[in-house]
Amino acid sequence: MKVLVVGSGGREHVLCWKLSQSKNVEKVFCAPGNAGIAQEFECVNIKVSELEKMADWAVANQIDFTVVGPEAPLCDGIVDVFKKRNLAIFGPSKAAAQLEGSKTFAKKFMEKYQIPTARAAEFDTPAPAKAYVEKEFANGEKGIVVKADGLAAGKGVLVADNAKAACDFIDLCFEGGFGGAGSRVLIEECLFGEETSVLALVDGNTIRALASSQDHKRAYDQDKGPNTGGMGAYSPAPVVTAEVLAEVQKNVLDNVLKGLQAEQLDFHGLLFVGAMVTDKGVKVLEFNVRFGDPEVQAVLSRFEGDLVDVMQKVVAGKLADAELLWSDEPAVCVVMASGGYPGDYEKGFAISGLEAAAATGAKVFHAGTGLNSAGEIVNTGGRVLGVTARGKDVRTAIDNAYRAVDCIKWQGAFCRRDIGYHALEHEKNK
Ligand code: AMP
Ligand code: GLY
Repeated sequence: MKVLVVGSGGREHVLCWKLSQSKNVEKVFCAPGNAGIAQEFECVNIKVSELEKMADWAVANQIDFTVVGPEAPLCDGIVDVFKKRNLAIFGPSKAAAQLEGSKTFAKKFMEKYQIPTARAAEFDTPAPAKAYVEKEFANGEKGIVVKADGLAAGKGVLVADNAKAACDFIDLCFEGGFGGAGSRVLIEECLFGEETSVLALVDGNTIRALASSQDHKRAYDQDKGPNTGGMGAYSPAPVVTAEVLAEVQKNVLDNVLKGLQAEQLDFHGLLFVGAMVTDKGVKVLEFNVRFGDPEVQAVLSRFEGDLVDVMQKVVAGKLADAELLWSDEPAVCVVMASGGYPGDYEKGFAISGLEAAAATGAKVFHAGTGLNSAGEIVNTGGRVLGVTARGKDVRTAIDNAYRAVDCIKWQGAFCRRDIGYHALEHEKNK
C-alpha cells in the first residue's frame, strides 16, 4: 500500500520511518517534508494548508492511507475533506480538533466531563483579565498561567510568578502578539508537580495509552528560560507509575471517550494529553489532537508493532484488537535548535556531521532543514534536528544520543545538555 504523511517536522520524519517498516507498506510519501525526509522518502510539494490540492493529489496517486502530523491542517478540517473523497485518513474531524484549536473549548469539555484540570477563567478584554490576576496573587496564589486561546505553536502560554509579568503578557495577547490567537485569554491556577505527555489512540469505542513519555518544554538546562515546542524527550517516563497510568485511564482517558461520544465528536486518531502529576492527583494541562513532537520520536523509537496496521484499526474502529508492542529499552531524543530559538534566529547555515552522527547508531530525525543552492543541508527552522537513540538503560540511551549530537555542527546550534535528567533522578530515588 501507499501511505502519505502530511507535515514537515521531526514528528513527520519519525512517522514516515516507522510506517515504512510496516509489512504492507510499499511506499511512503511526505507532503511537503524536509531535506532529511527527502533523503529517504518521496516528498511532494504541497503545503499543509492546501487541503483540496492535497486530497486531489492523494486521489490521483491512489494513496491508500494518510496520516496527518501537525495540528493546523487538522483544525482546518483536512480529515473532513479527505473523508468526503472516501480517502482513509488518521486524525480527528475539524469539530473534534477544537480540543486543541481552542483552549476555552477544551476547558469547557474538561469541566463538563469531570476531567481533572486547573481552575480557570476566560476573558475577552484585558482589564477584567488583569483585575483577576491581581486578585489571585492578593489571595496568596504563588503563580498564574496566561494562555492565548487559539493555536500559537506552543508559545502562547506564560507561567508567571508575579502579577506584572502576567499583565504584560495579557496586553501582548490582546495587542495581537499571537495573531488571532490572543483575542481571548484563559487564566489558570498554576499547578506544581512533574509533567508528562500521555499519547493515546482513540477510535470512538476505545482509548488506549501508548508508552509513556516526557518532554522538556523550557529552552535551557534545568528547565530555565522560555517555553518552546519541546527541546527533548524520553520514553518511558518513570513518573508514570502503574498507579498514575491507572488514574489517567480512569479519570482522564475514559472520560474523554465519554465526552467525545456524548458530543458526537468524530475522532479516529491520536489524542495527546499534557498532564501534571501533582500531589493532589493527575491534572490535565492541555489536549493536543496529534502526536507530540519530540515525544513521538522517543515513543515510536520503542514501538515494535506494525504501525500502519494499528492506525488502520483505529480508523476502522477496531483499536481494541490492535497489538501495541514496545521495546524495554528506553529512548531519548535531543532536539538541536537554531541559535536564538524560540525567539528570532538566523537560517541558512550549513550543517556538518550528519553522517558521523548516523554512524554512531543514533537516528537523526530532521525538522527545520532544507537544501541551499550548493546542495548542502542547512537550518531553515527553530527546531532543526531530533537526535534519537535507545540504550539498555536511560543513562546509556542519553549517552548514545549525545554521542551523536556531538558530531553535528552549524553556526549558532544549541541543545539542552540535560535531556532525561528527571528519569535519572527517579532512578536515584528508587
Ligand atoms: P499548554 O500549551 O497549555 O500545554 O502550556 C504549555 C506549558 O505551560 C505546559 O507544558 C506547562 O509546562 C505550562 N503550563 C500550562 N498550564 C499550566 C498550569 N496550569 N500550571 C503550571 N504550568 C502550566
Ligand atoms: N512537545 C509538545 C508538543 O508537541 O506540543
